[in-house]
Amino acid sequence: MSTAILGLQWGDEGKGKITHLLAKNADVVVRFNGGPNAGHTVIDRGVKFGTHLIPAGAFYPNTLSVLSSGMVIDFAILREEWNMLSEHLGWHPRLLIAENAHVIMPYHRVLEELEGSGKHFGTTRRGIAPTYRDKSAKLGIRVGDLLRPDIALARLELRLSFLKREWPDAAEIQGLSAGSLLEEQLAIAAPLLSCIGNATETISHAMSNHQTVMFEGAQGTLLDVDHGSYPFVTSSSTTFAGLGNSIGIPNPQVDRRLGVFKAYMTRVGAGPFPTIVSGALEERLRTTGGEFGVTTGRPRECGWLDLVALRYAIQLNGCTGLAITKLDVLSGFDEVKVCRSYRLGGQLTDKFPLSAEVLERCEPEYDVVAGWDEPISQIRDESELPESVLAYIRLIERAVNVPIEVISVGPGPEATMVRN
Ligand code: GDP
Ligand code: IMO
Ligand code: MG
Repeated sequence: MSTAILGLQWGDEGKGKITHLLAKNADVVVRFNGGPNAGHTVIDRGVKFGTHLIPAGAFYPNTLSVLSSGMVIDFAILREEWNMLSEHLGWHPRLLIAENAHVIMPYHRVLEELEGSGKHFGTTRRGIAPTYRDKSAKLGIRVGDLLRPDIALARLELRLSFLKREWPDAAEIQGLSAGSLLEEQLAIAAPLLSCIGNATETISHAMSNHQTVMFEGAQGTLLDVDHGSYPFVTSSSTTFAGLGNSIGIPNPQVDRRLGVFKAYMTRVGAGPFPTIVSGALEERLRTTGGEFGVTTGRPRECGWLDLVALRYAIQLNGCTGLAITKLDVLSGFDEVKVCRSYRLGGQLTDKFPLSAEVLERCEPEYDVVAGWDEPISQIRDESELPESVLAYIRLIERAVNVPIEVISVGPGPEATMVRN
């Protein structure tokens, strides 16, 4: 049985919590996109972690955690995370790092700052876009290159020769030396070099032997480089459509594609957000929901649930089921708004536009439904949920035509109701 856990909004939907919960009996858990721009909160035996690169499988002794092709890896961050988890667990997480994943080099972060793209696009400033750009331009350093230092050195020398021509006045670039960069990376990655291998073969073998394989998505559908609100997106494929290519398996047989979404919406960084709220309402959602970035600490913008965007995201991922998170955050609202369609140039539409400029002009048309007063974070049996919560869940299911299979009412794994 294989399961993919995919974010359906602009990230931070609670993928970390849901993957950690469902991965308990998994043989393999795979991250297939992005890098340390991700920040996934996991509460493991009462201790809270923000993971950036290592999949949630790392919390279980018999589970292999794969950082597959499609990812970009910063070894300094990976090493720190590996040390932190090893200390908590009392064992080293079992990792496989794909030889054809790409390495985030220190100059990728420098480039993001020099170009000003971090500020303009509100990125996480982890060097994500420059690393994916180098990959596409065939100027990247791959993880497997670290096992063949002569090849890595030649690649680095070529990359630096271009960079130095592009940035004649930047001391941070002119001072770089391929030899020292390589030496530094090799020292940082040293304890992890034995984890490097062919991830495609391992994932393929596990899937054809009917092992339990889980895929932990990073970012969210609306941040997908092709299908998100471009250019206010990340630089990788965040959806199920991109998964097969990233892991190198054609038409992967993933039986369960679970889309995770919050009961409202958030976004961090720049870009259009039709259902955004402001003032006291925003403050209340942000404070109650703890809406601050795991990676950067930035406050997240908050807004009402957007069913136009949700339907679009469900379709792109071919979701077979859904997980709704943070329903507890809406307790105490007299009424809750849900965006059913957009008004664009005087016309109603239920199509999510492919252009950020058009999305910017979309005005939300809301349905207003009854809220609920009671705190619900201690409820563990669905039948005890207030009727207006159940009505909210039914309204969403009817609007998107996919069942909600997981209901989350708090950050811990215990605060979850799994239906059937
Ligand atoms: P991810 O990037 O999708 O893994 O999500 P993040 O970890 O960045 O953000 C989700 C935040 O919501 C984290 O602080 C989680 O601990 C928290 N969280 C997840 N599910 C729930 C829930 O049902 N209720 C509440 N109150 N918090 C939740
Ligand atoms: P998880 O996996 C929320 C956003 C950034 C910025 C845009 C581009 O925790 O859901 P990048 O550094 O990727 O070039 O930034 O994407 N972003 C995220 N927002 N959650 C994430 O990951 C994100 N990863 C990137 O804020 O707007
Ligand atoms: Mg996150």
